[in-house]
Amino acid sequence: MEHIGNVVFGNEAVTYLKEVLISSKENNRNVFFLVDTNTAEFCLPLLHKLIKSNDLNFFIISISAGEEYKNLDTLSHIWHELTEKRAGRDALLINLGGGMVTDIGGFAASCYKRGIETIHIPTTLLAMVDAAIGGKTGIDFNYFKNQIGSFYQPSQVLVMSDFLSTLPNRQLMSGFGELLKYGFIANPKLLKAVPFSFDNHHNWLDLTRICVATKVEITSKDPNEKGLRKILNFGHTVGHAFESWSLENGGNLLHGEAIAAGMLCELWISHKIFDFPILEIESYIRIFQKYFDPFRFSKSLTDDLLNRMEHDKKNKGQSLRFVLLKSVGEAVYDVEVDAETVRESLDFYINTTKKKL
Ligand SMILES: NC(=O)c1ccc[n+]([C@@H]2O[C@H](COP(=O)([O-])OP(=O)(O)OC[C@H]3O[C@@H](n4cnc5c(N)ncnc54)[C@H](O)[C@@H]3O)[C@@H](O)[C@H]2O)c1
Repeated sequence: MEHIGNVVFGNEAVTYLKEVLISSKENNRNVFFLVDTNTAEFCLPLLHKLIKSNDLNFFIISISAGEEYKNLDTLSHIWHELTEKRAGRDALLINLGGGMVTDIGGFAASCYKRGIETIHIPTTLLAMVDAAIGGKTGIDFNYFKNQIGSFYQPSQVLVMSDFLSTLPNRQLMSGFGELLKYGFIANPKLLKAVPFSFDNHHNWLDLTRICVATKVEITSKDPNEKGLRKILNFGHTVGHAFESWSLENGGNLLHGEAIAAGMLCELWISHKIFDFPILEIESYIRIFQKYFDPFRFSKSLTDDLLNRMEHDKKNKGQSLRFVLLKSVGEAVYDVEVDAETVRESLDFYINTTKKKL
């Protein structure tokens, strides 16, 4: 079987899913598919086509699409549905969707009857390269990202790139943001391989495999984020502050867009503290300007953003801690950074997003 850790790709993933559904039917085991309104419309029909059978029983739990629904109310709805349909401890919850669905579905499964089996089928590029891998689950709370959650591994992650054919371009680019992160923290070659023009039909599977292999290697060494795993949060301290502000203020900043913007600030801090090469920052600015419509804000938002960063789970006590880079592929975690330097990085970002290189 073509797999990396518990992640299976392509045709093998389809075969695996079919076998699980057939054996569940034979054993009278309840199977639930968690979908959001978009994956119900675009991905469920494709899934039926891929497994070429309409004769398999499963329940559907549908939730609203969008980060603003990754919350307690939606979680309660999932548990309500599982309870109503009498899901037992042997039930299986299959999360068919992007990172929002795999995060909340994974969390729902981790607590329901103290944990039922769950499988992720990521349908966005972002979930294929990142969110569905590594066993982090959770919901947002009081507008803070992933404030409540657990570490809970799905038994399998089934990656089928066919789903990308219906993904809107902006969502694809959001996944591209996380993909670039893997280049910065561990894979200089990935940054060199950045294609300068692509669409949904681009061969994403090869790039996905590289990201998955990197994440599986890192998370298997440090499953509970005591050390090494923190490097996966590069770009996230600032990025989550942007995302949290947007969430609270009715903005529509996407997760990968927030991380792409956060990486720009954190590259600047890396330059200030570790002399990260300025040429690499300039080359990233070109990528950033080409692929992303940047999150724009004025200096008056700085205090608010800093306040949000202080809530970041990576901090200890009051000090701000960052993942920074010494060079491309050489990440360092738990670096204490003073508030003034963070402010300067936000100024740098504001100025950069005003002009074109
Ligand atoms: N657990 C982790 O390790 C981890 C890592 C990174 C990000 N995340 C989380 O992932 C989430 C972001 O994931 P995302 O970008 O996949 O967001 P998402 O799940 O909200 O999906 C983005 C949009 O695309 C739609 N969609 C999904 N698949 C589609 C398809 N094939 N065709 C058409 N539309 C489709 C969704 O309905 C949604 O509207 C955030 O909540 C973030 O915090 C988690």
